[in-house]
Amino acid sequence: MAVGRLTGVCGIVGYAGSGPALDVVLDGLRRLEYRGYDSAGVALSTSAGLFTCKRAGKLAALEKALADETPPEASTGIGHTRWATHGAPTDTNSHPHLGPAGRVAVVHNGIIENFDGLARRLEADGHELLSDTDTEVVAHLLEAEVMKGADLTTAMQRVCRRLVGAFTLVAVSCDEPDRVVAARRSSPLVVGVGDGENFVASDVAAFIDKTTDALELGEDQVVSITATTVDITDFVGNPATGRRFTVDWDVEAAEKAGYDYFMLKEIAEQPTAVADTLLGRFTPEGRLRLDELRLSDDELRGIDKIIVVACGTAFHAGLIAKYTIEHWTRIPCEVELASEFRYRDPIIDRDTMVVAISQSGETMDTLMAVRHAREQRAKVLAISNTNGSTIPRESDAVLYTRAGPEIAVASTKAFLTQIVACHLIGLYLAQVRGTKYGDEISQVVHELESMPAAIDTVLDTVEPVRELARDLRDVSSVLFLGRHVGYPVALEGALKLKELAYMHAEGFAAGELKHGPIALIEPGTPVFVVMPSRGRGPLHDKMANNIAEIRARGARTVVLAETGDDQARECADTLIELPPVPTLLQPLVATVPMQVFACEMARVRGHEVDQPRNLAKSVTVE
Ligand code: M6R
Repeated sequence: MAVGRLTGVCGIVGYAGSGPALDVVLDGLRRLEYRGYDSAGVALSTSAGLFTCKRAGKLAALEKALADETPPEASTGIGHTRWATHGAPTDTNSHPHLGPAGRVAVVHNGIIENFDGLARRLEADGHELLSDTDTEVVAHLLEAEVMKGADLTTAMQRVCRRLVGAFTLVAVSCDEPDRVVAARRSSPLVVGVGDGENFVASDVAAFIDKTTDALELGEDQVVSITATTVDITDFVGNPATGRRFTVDWDVEAAEKAGYDYFMLKEIAEQPTAVADTLLGRFTPEGRLRLDELRLSDDELRGIDKIIVVACGTAFHAGLIAKYTIEHWTRIPCEVELASEFRYRDPIIDRDTMVVAISQSGETMDTLMAVRHAREQRAKVLAISNTNGSTIPRESDAVLYTRAGPEIAVASTKAFLTQIVACHLIGLYLAQVRGTKYGDEISQVVHELESMPAAIDTVLDTVEPVRELARDLRDVSSVLFLGRHVGYPVALEGALKLKELAYMHAEGFAAGELKHGPIALIEPGTPVFVVMPSRGRGPLHDKMANNIAEIRARGARTVVLAETGDDQARECADTLIELPPVPTLLQPLVATVPMQVFACEMARVRGHEVDQPRNLAKSVTVE
């Protein structure tokens, strides 16, 4: 009996080719496991029937179970790795789910909102649902269509027309053992076009070792693949086309390259990621050139308000953007958590530009904010790291960060490149609207170009930060203070520590401390302080006062300050030196030691660095 909905944010892969499908599917799942790791499963399709194996827990549990089985040789298969949204992950609730006769298997990402009604109708017709999932309902519906004589593609089209919600579905049937059929609505799905083999997956990482030739599916489309064919239709069966693109990174970018954790690799990649995000976006004279922006200068000149919407780390990048955008363009800029945005009836119109920041381009809260903004006729500009993902596709314009694949759940290089992208947008608006002189803009451009080297310098000097983490491994709470652009950095430092080390960590605007949070400070409480650059004298002095206040109450101060800041040295129990950079660029260097600190803290506390508990990389449910 179905009692609840159990789907979520998952990694999905399907393969049709000539190779051993099980190996290909497991390889794909390995590279998608960051999307969810509560359970995993596979189905192989042969004319003799379907073979399935699924287990609660990580992919390793599935592989262990498979070692005790004798899977058939098959050249068609599907797989799933899951992050549950409701209820406990169990073997039964794991995907794939089968129809009652075992002729159709399906994996799913998303939520079928009308699941209850569909389940009740099925049960009234005598179907017995074994799991607590909405997915099993789809398996029953698909198989019912197949039993009535439909091919799997037609069955998928018919079933999708009955579904409400957001979903990616991938199915196989033993009646068509060479075919995989997939569908998407508001949930990620890409096709990998190979030579004598084709793939479907939640993202290109699943097949990047086999092909870089990919197709992005549109909303409400079905794709049917065999080893040699790829056919796309809409949900009614009309022929449709996907958008072809080439993946511009390779399998090595999706592997650990000798690092113990993806997170460490991704922290180390930050200088390159920042440099790549800047690449080709300036003329030799230092003017900005954002060719892909797709909004005319007239449209940009007409904007009278900017609202940044994002979640988690991307939200912190947005908070930094407020300082730069308002300073450079004089356009009022609000920053809002995407999950809150549409529910407060925000005041937006055709002269509002909504900037949606999302590494994955799939975060459902952000996607819903984008849709709301577009319904109100606002212009939507996406900042994303994922080519062809849903948020850029549904936006009026896009600026891609070029961080390469970010696999660790904790966001690092995506954050820094999002900040850079926001800076580029702020400067571009200033250029188009004439709120900054050309030489002022090229000055910032030159400063941005020097940031990869500055981040490198930080990376070369973080060993003491690791030692500090080992030293503080048993503290119960860590606080983070910042002012101005250092405030979002403090929030980000705290988020990293919560997410990875499972510790109480909070970030505050330093000026707020005396209004309540200072009561948290006990003798020995570690407090990270992002010291404003000395160039901002009043801010710097105020922060020095704040440090004095917390030291008087016994705090152990860890001060991140630019090299040569003697005042910071005097008030720091531990000083972390940063290369001197302009104030508005300081987050690009100040964040890095905090990432390293959280990563090492997770390691010494024995946690999984790349896959922290309860989390998933890309949260495609609201
Ligand atoms: O893919 P997105 O940038 O939209 O993801 C937003 C957040 O879920 C993400 O930044 C999350 O907060 C990170 N895991 C934090 O490290």
